[in-house]
Amino acid sequence: MPLDHGMLVGVIGSGAMGSGIAQVAAAAGHRVVLADANPGATAKARANIEKGMEREVGKGRLTRDAADALIARIDAQPHPLGDNLSAFASCGLVIEAIVEDLAAKQALFRKLESAVPADAVLATNTSSLSVASVASACTESQRVLGLHFFNPAPVLPLVEVVPWLGVDQSLMPAAHALMKHWGKTPVFASDTPGFIVNRIARPFYGESIRILEEGIADVPTIDWAMKELGGFRMGPFELMDFIGNDVNYAVTRSVFESFFYDPRYKPSLTQRRLVEAGFLGRKSGRGYYDYRDGAAMPAPTKDPAVAQRVFERVLAMLINEAADAVLMRVASPADIDLAMTKGVNYPKGLLAWADAIGVSKVLAWLEALQDEYGEDRYRPSPMLKRVGRFGGAFFQ
Ligand code: NAI
Repeated sequence: MPLDHGMLVGVIGSGAMGSGIAQVAAAAGHRVVLADANPGATAKARANIEKGMEREVGKGRLTRDAADALIARIDAQPHPLGDNLSAFASCGLVIEAIVEDLAAKQALFRKLESAVPADAVLATNTSSLSVASVASACTESQRVLGLHFFNPAPVLPLVEVVPWLGVDQSLMPAAHALMKHWGKTPVFASDTPGFIVNRIARPFYGESIRILEEGIADVPTIDWAMKELGGFRMGPFELMDFIGNDVNYAVTRSVFESFFYDPRYKPSLTQRRLVEAGFLGRKSGRGYYDYRDGAAMPAPTKDPAVAQRVFERVLAMLINEAADAVLMRVASPADIDLAMTKGVNYPKGLLAWADAIGVSKVLAWLEALQDEYGEDRYRPSPMLKRVGRFGGAFFQ
């Protein structure tokens, strides 16, 4: 049976994601083969996992024996991965988490196919490429699917399980069940740009930047409004600085291009200039905020009317994206809400949030924006109209 709970799991690419995924699989009891093309990468990954385990033991969340056993289950390949993929010869599942480059992923899948057993499942952790484009490199492509984890994989529960046009459909429930067995929260997502989370989350950043650009509120005030009124753990600018403005800009561009330049996803010049200036966020010492020694953190202007305006506008745009994802059958309403709470820690599912506010009210916020700006960016999704016009709700 494919995706057996006792199978050997392969993970290729031992960076931020691969090392986390290897840890998750080992924690679920699998033996794991972890490999990387770069010398020293798996040793570094292993050391990081050991450090993480040490913390867990220190906090009393894991016994020393359990931590040692987990680490012993990870076979970190000492040699850089070349053309010899024999280490994966008895794997039941191999998860790819290498560089986000289609040619590199296709070359790997082409080689991998003949190195693994005939019934092994091959998964890609890609964030922005289509699963179809990766799978097409294989002859037996029906056994390829997407398993999209979130960073850090051992901490964030969400996994988007992504089929594609040619997948063996019988694998999908098995992949979903396996992720559950791994202690994750799996959701099915269609093979569309950004899957669920990276598509629906765009306005959290994009609309906040737009509000900043128009001078409606400044950076700390927008962050404060979203935390205070929305209950988000981090404001949009704090979060972009944390993720890295280069990374966030790359995702925004990729989603925009992949949707054939739909203006709803248009990247912003403000973000582009930050990247050009090298203001990448926390990692470069400067982003929307200044993190250098001695720099003062600006204070928000705590004006309730401005905060309300900011919050309603960003939330309406997020809810519109979630509604549109329902319309386009990216995922079920329940999975869409799960994805945003379990993948990016939103305080509430967006559709349930719309229900609580009143979908017709959210629709009115958007219609007012579209009326004011006349931009396609603010067009309400037909799904929001369908539900909102007659006083309906996403969940009855
Ligand atoms: P990373 O740069 O931390 O790690 C990538 C690793 O792959 C490196 O250790 C590199 O040496 C290795 N590698 C590169 N080419 C290789 C090849 N041909 N064969 C074997 N190993 C190779 O990158 P990260 O962040 O772990 O991302 C990996 C994948 O996961 C990408 O597809 C990315 O889009 C996706 N992803 C990233 C998330 C994130 O937040 N960082 C979240 C979810 C998915």
